Amino acid sequence: MKKLRRSLTAVLFLCLLLSGCGMFDVDVEEPAKEEEDLIVVGFSQVGSESVWRTKNTASIQEELTQENGFFLIFANARQKQENQIKHIREFISQRVDYILFSPVTEEGWDTVLQEAKEAGIPVILVDRKVDVADSSLYTAWIGSDMTEEGRQAGLWLENYEKENQLESQQIEIVVLQGTEGATSTIERTKGFHQIADAHENWVILEEPYADYTTAKGEEVMDRLLDTYPSIDVLISQNDDMTFGALQAMDDHGIKAGVDGDVAVVSFDAVDEALKLVKQGRINVDVECNPLQGPYIWMTLEALERGETVSKNIVVKERVYDQSFFSGR
Ligand code: AHR
Repeated sequence: MKKLRRSLTAVLFLCLLLSGCGMFDVDVEEPAKEEEDLIVVGFSQVGSESVWRTKNTASIQEELTQENGFFLIFANARQKQENQIKHIREFISQRVDYILFSPVTEEGWDTVLQEAKEAGIPVILVDRKVDVADSSLYTAWIGSDMTEEGRQAGLWLENYEKENQLESQQIEIVVLQGTEGATSTIERTKGFHQIADAHENWVILEEPYADYTTAKGEEVMDRLLDTYPSIDVLISQNDDMTFGALQAMDDHGIKAGVDGDVAVVSFDAVDEALKLVKQGRINVDVECNPLQGPYIWMTLEALERGETVSKNIVVKERVYDQSFFSGR
């Protein structure tokens, strides 16, 4: 692909306008001569709802630096699709070289991505996916196999059931789902059900949404504990909701984790949660790798060299339970 080089002047003018609104995290200054050669990337991030998200943003900012040849315009959508559509239109009008974005939900992107395509700007999806009729509206998606993450949660529970000889008992499960319509929510739920639906003794009591935040996780778990007296397993689709749910269990005098009343299965495996796995407060944490910056950098470099890149680029991840810390 022909190497695109846009003048930064118009981009910086836009940043100057928007920085007053607190939308962009860029330093606005007159570009030095060599900055004219930087690859301009507009990045619309979902928000800052979780520890995972903060790490994901940092990973991308650490790789797409001026030293590495990039000029990154960062925009925080604060969980709103309308903000992301606005960001993308602004990136188009400023003729950035690439648009990078993590869609808050999967649906509703056809029109704005068609506009990007007509403007000749490649779109790279990060973390979450879009549900569009025409897959040529984006160049590549870089993220996790979240259906597999959901399956891994189910497989762990299958093994837990076997080890504890619970096959003949009813296992009562609650699932805290993340943001409605988000890829991570849809796919983790789907993957978990692929395993759970084969077990007649697993009863999913409820699967409410809790938006991937600690506050909502606590609020929803509090209600679930009031409603259902004998929950055996909590499947919580991210660590932040798990932190909230653990607080709710503490408040109800319910012991969570290994040898507790409720087994806890979490997702993300951020450092703060892995400490709780080590302590036995969380039984297992299915990793969702936030360190996507290097993959994005390599993809952009390949595109700059005119190479064809894979449509789907999947990051590596693993599952953590106490055996990881005991070296079993
Ligand atoms: O899409 C990835 C999910 O979004 C992470 O699991 C969660 O923590 C984040 O908010």
